[in-house]
Amino acid sequence: MAAKIMRSLVRLTLVAAFLFFSIGFVQTGIPGLGLAPAQAQSAGSVPCNWSGNISDTQFWRAIRKGVTGTVSIPDRKAGQLVQSDGDELRAFRQGPMSQFGGWLLIGSLILLGLFYVGRGRIEVESGLSGKTIERFNSFERFVHWLTASSFVILALTGLNMLYGKYVIPTLIGKEAFASLTMFGKFAHDWIAWAFILGIIMMFFSWVRHNIPNMADIRWLMAGGGMFSKGVHPPARRFNAGQKIIFWVVIVGGASLSGSGLALLFPFEIEMFAGTFKIINVFGFNFPTELSSIQETQYALMWHGIMALVMIAIIIAHIYIGSVGMEGAFDAVGTGQVDINWAREHHNLWVQEMESMDEGPVSNRAPE
Ligand code: HEM
Repeated sequence: MAAKIMRSLVRLTLVAAFLFFSIGFVQTGIPGLGLAPAQAQSAGSVPCNWSGNISDTQFWRAIRKGVTGTVSIPDRKAGQLVQSDGDELRAFRQGPMSQFGGWLLIGSLILLGLFYVGRGRIEVESGLSGKTIERFNSFERFVHWLTASSFVILALTGLNMLYGKYVIPTLIGKEAFASLTMFGKFAHDWIAWAFILGIIMMFFSWVRHNIPNMADIRWLMAGGGMFSKGVHPPARRFNAGQKIIFWVVIVGGASLSGSGLALLFPFEIEMFAGTFKIINVFGFNFPTELSSIQETQYALMWHGIMALVMIAIIIAHIYIGSVGMEGAFDAVGTGQVDINWAREHHNLWVQEMESMDEGPVSNRAPE
């Protein structure tokens, strides 16, 4: 009898113990899984009503802020679940960068329109003589048009990537816009090489004529004679305005090319950490420890800003080289400019050419 009572007591104790631990597990969570069933993520909300060494809120916030764990695969980037800088970049690109860029481009068109209305076309004041002088030889013209045509295609396909989605789908439909943008993107990637080659050749062809000198200061002080008739400040082969365009194209083009190559070969070319180290020598405080994704993000941002600034400047160049000034286009068209045009805009260069040779000025090769 006593043994029977003992067996019943042991059974009761076992049942009680089983019930006690079962209820305990349900309340505190199943060991090994970490989360209590009632606290697992559901309906998109993050569990956050219990604390351990680190609360769930802190845990998810750390992931959201880009905390990096360790991974055993070679691609170390995989250790970071969320890289929030991408959000900031997109907000900047679709916000201030697009807005200011748009105003910059529209503003330069308006300014040129106003300039045309106020000043009109800059004429050859002494009239066309019919006698010409060679301004650019065929190689120089080839280099100019290689750079110019590639830049124009890069500008149009690039602008489409930034602004196209706001306008073009409503005109031609989403499907056609998608195909257009895909081919535009291929063109952008490949034609970039022609532009890079163009600016390298342009640099070597014209650098010796674009070293600043005192005549440039005088030319700038006189506003280049752009704003008043009858004013023609002396200039050699290139005046100060053209030298500015040349250096904008070379320095801006090199910067566009560098950031473009960093985008063509992401995670392989890293230029911004090094550039920031150099800039910080002047007292700035740019980050110099950049992850490869941050490198690509800086490249994308810089590429866009540089492109917008350069397009605005080149619009002004195209204006003055075509409708804005009589006789200018011939320089890059046939290569022969009217001698009166050359005397008005580049008198020192014409004198140099004449002093080189006593013969007729027409068809003379450039210096
Ligand atoms: C697409 C239309 C363009 C036209 C009609 C045009 C016209 C001209 C003309 C007429 C000149 C010679 C000026 C002179 O003889 O004194 C010139 C020179 C030059 N062009 Fe262009 N150009 C165009 C596009 C470009 C582009 C896209 C670039 C570079 C991205 C460029 C870069 C240069 C440079 C560096 C010079 C020498 C400096 C100067 O004259 O300003 N051009 N262009």
